[in-house]
Amino acid sequence: MGLYDKYFLAPFINCACGTKPITYQRKKVVPLAEGRVLEVGMGSALNLPYYDRNKVEFIWGLEPSADMREKARPNIDKSGLEVKLIDLPGEEIPLDDNSVDSILLTYTLCTIPDWHSALEQMRRVLKPEGRLIFTEHGNAPDASVEKWQQRINPVWKKLAGGCNLNRPIPDLITQSGFNIVDLESRYLPSTPKLFAYNYWGVAQIA
Ligand SMILES: C[S@@+](CC[C@H](N)C(=O)[O-])C[C@H]1O[C@@H](n2cnc3c(N)ncnc32)[C@H](O)[C@@H]1O
Repeated sequence: MGLYDKYFLAPFINCACGTKPITYQRKKVVPLAEGRVLEVGMGSALNLPYYDRNKVEFIWGLEPSADMREKARPNIDKSGLEVKLIDLPGEEIPLDDNSVDSILLTYTLCTIPDWHSALEQMRRVLKPEGRLIFTEHGNAPDASVEKWQQRINPVWKKLAGGCNLNRPIPDLITQSGFNIVDLESRYLPSTPKLFAYNYWGVAQIA
């Protein structure tokens, strides 16, 4: 945890994740979560206002960054939801097998270094009938945009806490033992195209 992370990166992530188009995406997917929920990479807990209080029993918020957990605490306190923060990465989920009804992934798969291990961990803890609910930015379908995503990615990744612009989100999910049962994608409005292509939907264990 350096000064850059504390005074620039954490406020930047909090701000970038709070834009109107991203909030619109959250409102589409977060209410799908039910029962015992695991959020992987909870960040500053910006999803909490959009949970359906009648469907959610409990939320584990996995977040490896101390700076982001600090930003999450006030949002958790005012949410009225039962949230337990866990200071570990997605590659090390400390929950029992088949213990989670819904996993929520919002703008996190771009950043997890070993995405395959993390998704395998998610598959392990998810109940057989459970759902992985996601909205993520990733590689764009247009060659001209994708070319620039590839070019800029090495520098962007260093500046943005490990965030990758060019991950093929649906492929990562299906390569890790999930079937995607619902998938939509588009460029978010009012967002630079390099960061704008979003994939959202629901996956289940294959
Ligand atoms: C762009 S932020 C998104 C935060 C939140 N999900 C949201 O929608 O606002 C990405 C988050 O992933 C977290 N992260 C980084 N490495 C991770 C890992 N290995 N496992 C889980 N989360 C990780 C970061 O600390 C950061 O909070």
